[in-house]
Amino acid sequence: VPRARTARPGRRAETYAHRGSSGSAPENTTAAFLLAIAEGADHVETDVQLSADGELVIIHDVTLVRTTDARRVFPDRAPWRVHDFTLAELRMLDAGGWYDGRFGGERIPTLDEVLDLLDGQVGLNLELKSPDANPGLVAALAARLRTRREWVGANRLVVGSFDRPALRDLHARLPDVAVSLISYEVPTGDELADLAGWVCSVNPDVRRLHPEDADRVTGAGLALVPWTVDAPRWWRWALDLGVTGMITNYPAALAGLLDGR
Ligand code: G3P
Ligand code: CA
Repeated sequence: VPRARTARPGRRAETYAHRGSSGSAPENTTAAFLLAIAEGADHVETDVQLSADGELVIIHDVTLVRTTDARRVFPDRAPWRVHDFTLAELRMLDAGGWYDGRFGGERIPTLDEVLDLLDGQVGLNLELKSPDANPGLVAALAARLRTRREWVGANRLVVGSFDRPALRDLHARLPDVAVSLISYEVPTGDELADLAGWVCSVNPDVRRLHPEDADRVTGAGLALVPWTVDAPRWWRWALDLGVTGMITNYPAALAGLLDGR
C-alpha cells in the first residue's frame, strides 16, 4: 500500500488547500490553485469529473449552476449537469465571476492543466467526485494517470472518494497510486483493519472526530486528514487530538498557526 506520511513526534501537520485556497479565490480555478501555492500549502485538494466527451475536468458540484454562468450561456440546457457538456462548451463558461468580478474569465480547468500547474510545488489530493453521475470516470482517470507516472507517490498524489466501490476500482486498476477514503464518521474496528490493507489515509468530517481516533487511525498506519477545518479553535482542537493534516479553505492562516506566526 503506498503510504502517505503519518503523525510522528516533531513532524508538523500538513495543510491541504480545499478546492485550492477557496476562502480567498473562486474554488477549483487556476487562481485558487496558484494562491494555495503562494500561501505555502503542502497539498491542494480538488475534485475531478468527466465531460460529455470524456475529458477530466475540475469542478465540485454535479451541476454548473453555483460556480459558473452556465444558465446565462446555455439557457436551454437545464439542469446543467457537468457530464452533459463537452469540454469545448465547459470552456465557454466563466468560473470566477460568481465569486468576485476580479476573477471574471477564470475557466474550468482540465486535470492535465492542474497537474502541470502544481507539478513539483505541492502535493495533490484528488477527489473522484460523484462517480455515479460521471459514468466512465474511474476508467478515464486510471488511463490518464498511466500517462502521468511522475505523479505516482503518496506524498505527491492521493486519490480520494466517498464512493468506496469507485475507490476500490481505481485501486485495482492502479495499485501503486495512493488512495484515501473520504467519509463522515471515522472508520473503526474491522472496517479500519480492512482499509489499512489498501488505503493510505482517511478523510473524515472534523465534526465527527473523537479523542481516541487519531491514535487508532495512525496506529493502523494511516494518515488522518479531516475536512473541512476553517476556524482557529477547530485547528487547535484537531491538532491536540493528533491529526496528521487538515483540509482547509484558509491554508495561509492554518500554516501561520502551525508555524507559530
Ligand atoms: O476531501 C474531502 C472534502 O473535499 C469532501 O467534501 O464536498 O468539499 O468535496 P467536498
Ligand atoms: Ca472534495
